[in-house]
Amino acid sequence: MAARGVGILARLPLHSQRRSRVQRSIPRHFSCPGTVAANFGSEEQPLGSAETGSEDKIPKKRFSEVQKERREQAQRTVLIHCPNNINEKKFLKYLSQHGPINKHFFYESFGFYAVVEFCQKDSVNSLQSEAHTPNKSTESAIPFKSRFLNLKLKNLSNQIPEQLSAQTNNQSPPSSKKLFELLNYAESIDDQLYTLLKTFQLTEENVRLRHLTCSLIEDIAAAYFPGCVIRPFGSSVNTFGKLGCDLDMFLDLDEIGKPNVHKVIIISFARCISSTSLHVRNAGNFLMEFQMKNVPSERIATQKILSVIGECLDNFGPGCVGVQKILNARCPLVRFSHQASGFQCDLTTNNSIALKSSELLYIYGSLDARVRALVFSVRCWARAHSLTSSIPGAWITNFSLTMMVIFFLQRRSPPILPTLDSLKSLADAEDRCILDGNNCTFIRDLYKIKPSGNTETLELLLKEFFEYFGNFAFNKNSINIRQGREQNKPDSSPLYIQNPFETSLNISKNVSQSQLQKFVELARDSAWILEQEDKGQPSPSSKQPWGLAALLLPPGAASPSLSKKKKKPMAEKVKGLLAAIKSNSADISKGSRGKRAISTQA
Ligand code: GTP
Ligand code: MG
Repeated sequence: MAARGVGILARLPLHSQRRSRVQRSIPRHFSCPGTVAANFGSEEQPLGSAETGSEDKIPKKRFSEVQKERREQAQRTVLIHCPNNINEKKFLKYLSQHGPINKHFFYESFGFYAVVEFCQKDSVNSLQSEAHTPNKSTESAIPFKSRFLNLKLKNLSNQIPEQLSAQTNNQSPPSSKKLFELLNYAESIDDQLYTLLKTFQLTEENVRLRHLTCSLIEDIAAAYFPGCVIRPFGSSVNTFGKLGCDLDMFLDLDEIGKPNVHKVIIISFARCISSTSLHVRNAGNFLMEFQMKNVPSERIATQKILSVIGECLDNFGPGCVGVQKILNARCPLVRFSHQASGFQCDLTTNNSIALKSSELLYIYGSLDARVRALVFSVRCWARAHSLTSSIPGAWITNFSLTMMVIFFLQRRSPPILPTLDSLKSLADAEDRCILDGNNCTFIRDLYKIKPSGNTETLELLLKEFFEYFGNFAFNKNSINIRQGREQNKPDSSPLYIQNPFETSLNISKNVSQSQLQKFVELARDSAWILEQEDKGQPSPSSKQPWGLAALLLPPGAASPSLSKKKKKPMAEKVKGLLAAIKSNSADISKGSRGKRAISTQA
């Protein structure tokens, strides 16, 4: 995206700024300067370019590669609670006694914290070996030694900072006021969508903090299950994460099941060429297995494992508070707050299909710059009008909204996104993936997917999205990103969005008729507002929100169309709420195999 030149624009009346909006060609790789922290002090590029939006000219890595590198990076990282007047230079000098530091940044979240990534893992061990258990004061500490540390100043008078204390990195989304200001200063609706994306997308630091949090939780889980892996999934890794979104993670015990194969590398000097060979111990006729306790079902095993991890987090997980074990849900989970990072965390067990969905969304989000911009705007629009909620119920989820945008982009002519079936047809043998009997195969190499020739503007796409779904035959058709075409609904759910991998399931089964109706009405109203924009309306009052900003106004605010609706009588509101609760509890009790009974969207 070209620089918006706010400095010059700020001197012009807003009205003339709006009239001078320019439609530019659409960048395929949206560049988002500033996502790498200034205090990283390095030119190095972030790992998952598509994760954070810093995509310009950066090779697009495979999802698995990004996750592997992030995990390894997190294992070399510590989280330190610091005094807020810390002298950055002295702090870094002190820490580098344990080994060179690769990156660091500071942030505030009910305290002042430093995230420090060493170049080597040994440095973390060295630092830990020097750390003390806290002096007993009034409370007794549980002596669990983690990578979450606390730095104290021995002598306050010696530590008066010679320079200003360390700069902090912001981990929260901007206020609505700030967002509206930014949107009003944009040059065009396209610019507004990219501005919104840039403002809300996860920053490089936030992504690091998410992976670090998983790594810290992994250390706790490993106390019981050595070799386990805690993998993040959902919007933290699928490129659609918004600052403040929850942190979904799952305990992967599959790695434990794999035997450790002892590898011996033999270099053959005899022939003056080096060759490697793998020596596996000869077990002859023997097969050694671990003795393990058996339980009647996988669900019971999951509940038992999560129960014990929940207890660990509650009893000795540093910074883990408000631990809730929600074990009877469709998908059992442990929910807790990680106080130091500020993340609301949902921990489940083996959830490989959800991770595969995250990988698929990562691919869609990385293929074309317009995808994430459109998804972010639609998600923000839905949140602004209470179509989504952080409370579970009959509301549409962010995951479903993302699927709707992907489907819509598959329907354009020419299509902006390929169907899942065509991604499957491009797959190589190494991409083949069957999970729980479901074929989850698709091409994972982004370079093998042909870019779209479609050059439609975001302004047009946003308007058409609202028009398309404002007039969609939800009563008879389902949405299906596998085939990229409408199909007859297999049941009477008001909204039917086929689960891409477990194809007999509906990911929006919880959505009630009244919530769908509300979505349709708001979509029509929003299409109408954008239509007026095209005609040069509404009146060019310099302060009036326009374009995307007008769509994001909360219900009842000035927006001419969105506030024109009659207020619903109280009885109807109560009826809607009861229907929502009923639909949700029915959904839980039916125990469908969808991902979760409790959804957590920002
Ligand atoms: P946020 O609202 O930003 O948290 O988006 P999210 O994509 O992380 O959604 P959420 O936290 O609700 O769920 C996490 C992940 O679980 C999603 O990204 C999906 O991969 C998966 N998921 C969520 N809901 C469903 C569902 O109904 N069915 C299936 N199959 N997967 C789901
Ligand atoms: Mg989530």
